Amino acid sequence: MDLDKLQQNWDQLGREDPMWAILADPTQHGNKWDREAFFATGREHVCEILAELEAAAASPEPGRALDFGCGVGRLTQALAATFAEVDGVDIAPSMIEQANGFNPDPARIRFHLNGRPDLALFGDATFDFLLSLIVLQHIENRYKAGYLREFVRVLRPGGVAVFTVPSHPAWTARGVIYRLVPNALLNLWRKRQYGYEGVMELHGMPRAEVESAVRAAGGELVRVVDEPLLGTDWRSYRYTVRKP
Ligand SMILES: C[S@@+](CC[C@H](N)C(=O)[O-])C[C@H]1O[C@@H](n2cnc3c(N)ncnc32)[C@H](O)[C@@H]1O
Repeated sequence: MDLDKLQQNWDQLGREDPMWAILADPTQHGNKWDREAFFATGREHVCEILAELEAAAASPEPGRALDFGCGVGRLTQALAATFAEVDGVDIAPSMIEQANGFNPDPARIRFHLNGRPDLALFGDATFDFLLSLIVLQHIENRYKAGYLREFVRVLRPGGVAVFTVPSHPAWTARGVIYRLVPNALLNLWRKRQYGYEGVMELHGMPRAEVESAVRAAGGELVRVVDEPLLGTDWRSYRYTVRKP
């Protein structure tokens, strides 16, 4: 799926059932997420990640943070408890519209629509911290490598990025389906299963390829851990990267 199509899909999902499209808990399908409970999950995720960084002696400076693939601002808002300024970027106009509607502090939290395969809207060395949770899995690998390069470019020296990427399908029943069935066919099944027009394609990138893309961009791998957020049908990792 090219970026235009990806944008159309996420815009659609953002109009149909935004919080479920972000955190696909089946019990919350059909716009059932309670807004406060939904944003509380963002605070929990950000707290957990910042605590892990502290334990690994890799805490970023509390200056400026970027949330790549911010959706309606679940993590962006939570980052503002620690960072002086936070920017959220998303490909879907509907997500950005709602993120702005929920924004509790527009003086420090800004949302940007970006349909480009890069982060040209930000200069080099702009951010102390970059977070991208459950986003890159939806993007084809031909774009993923470019975004990884951009993540390192926009970090300040000493800045830290944390992002999640599935590597390859696990040996579960669904994992086998993901290995054998092309996305074009899976998308028909996804449409029926969700009951929505928008679909969420999944694309794994092998861990070795992610690591080599990060190194080629000039980033240093601080740690790579298993990522449970992406479910059991994929072998997934959470990467912590520092810009020297
Ligand atoms: C599963 S949601 C996760 C949202 C947010 N990271 C969170 O955890 O609350 C994935 C988000 O990534 C956005 N997205 C997908 N492809 C993107 C791209 N190429 N650039 C920016 N955002 C993108 C989608 O519009 C959607 O809002």
